[in-house]
Amino acid sequence: MTVKLGFIGTGGIANHHMKNISENKGFKVVAACDLMADRVKTFAEKWGIPHHYSDMDKMFAGERLDAIMVCTPNYAHKEPTIKALKAGIHVYCEKPMAMNVAEAEEMTAAAKKSKAILTIGHHMRFKPASQFVHKARLAGDLGEIYFGRVCYHRRGGVPWWGAFHIKDKSGGGALIDIGVHIIDLGLWLMGSPNPVQVFGATYAKLAKRTDGQRPNQDPKRAAEFDVDDFATAYVKMDNGATMAIECSWAANVGPKEKQAMEFYGDQGGATLDPLAVYTHRHGQYVDIAPQHLPNPQPHGEATEHFRRVILGEAENLVRPEQTLNVQKILDGIYQSSMTGEPIVCG
Ligand SMILES: NC(=O)c1ccc[n+]([C@@H]2O[C@H](COP(=O)([O-])OP(=O)(O)OC[C@H]3O[C@@H](n4cnc5c(N)ncnc54)[C@H](O)[C@@H]3O)[C@@H](O)[C@H]2O)c1
Repeated sequence: MTVKLGFIGTGGIANHHMKNISENKGFKVVAACDLMADRVKTFAEKWGIPHHYSDMDKMFAGERLDAIMVCTPNYAHKEPTIKALKAGIHVYCEKPMAMNVAEAEEMTAAAKKSKAILTIGHHMRFKPASQFVHKARLAGDLGEIYFGRVCYHRRGGVPWWGAFHIKDKSGGGALIDIGVHIIDLGLWLMGSPNPVQVFGATYAKLAKRTDGQRPNQDPKRAAEFDVDDFATAYVKMDNGATMAIECSWAANVGPKEKQAMEFYGDQGGATLDPLAVYTHRHGQYVDIAPQHLPNPQPHGEATEHFRRVILGEAENLVRPEQTLNVQKILDGIYQSSMTGEPIVCG
């Protein structure tokens, strides 16, 4: 069966998804919607999509959709997701799930009531390295994981398009935009424990500078910048495990982009880059490092997985209850940064 798909939001990530989806014969994109009439028209022409709209209600009324891709800014994730789920339409909603826990709870409740599936665009789970560590954990190679360190820094990587730098539209900055990826991946690779307490701090030291001295800076938008460009946190889980988090869009760090994911268990440890499991065999320390790892496009893997879940061929890997926990950590870090106190996760 071909899945009939509609897009809501036709900016950067929608075009990126279309590259993969246009090559996937299991999807037929029948409609697209964007508030910007010119943008959605260009998108539809570029990708050969028969119908386009600037009002999502008209798209829902005018089309027989099996599923939608929600590719709007963060403030506009909840509304189309809930409308679609109520209509029995499957949803792939971009990350972060929502602006805050309250919205994420509404979306999770709507998914529970619906026959349709809700999944969130955490494509990093689909990278072969993530899958390898996940399988190693399931096989017991790591034993009980009691600590994870997740880190994602960029040197000059503020997204200066769209609304990423405006709190009312995005809910936050670097933390909710890219911190969300590593928090989701870290929690999942640790076996999805529930967060119970969060202590964190956020900063906005570099991205809002308007002195014109930094490369990749947009001075006009920097003047509007009211979100974080750097965050650190420490999270305690209900199984006693802990996770340390660091992320930034703009840090005085060596590489243009730096990621580090480390997991420590009582039978073995693991890192994603370099990819290895650190354990012991026959009385010696042993590193297990896979060779010839494939390099598929992870967003394409994620949308193909969505299609297979819709057809009942796979279990939903990125479930709303899990991404609600990610949202609890994000909200906890923002609150903790404001109050200076540890926050109990609700
Ligand atoms: N998974 C990833 O790797 C990844 C990468 C980039 C962005 N994203 C996420 O995708 C989302 C969109 O990011 P982007 O870079 O494509 O932003 P963008 O600004 O390029 O595009 C967003 C589009 O949504 C439209 N829009 C806004 N409100 C709307 C509404 N109510 N109905 C219809 N259209 C609406 C805007 O007009 C715009 O064209 C964000 O949530 C972002 O976090 C995910």
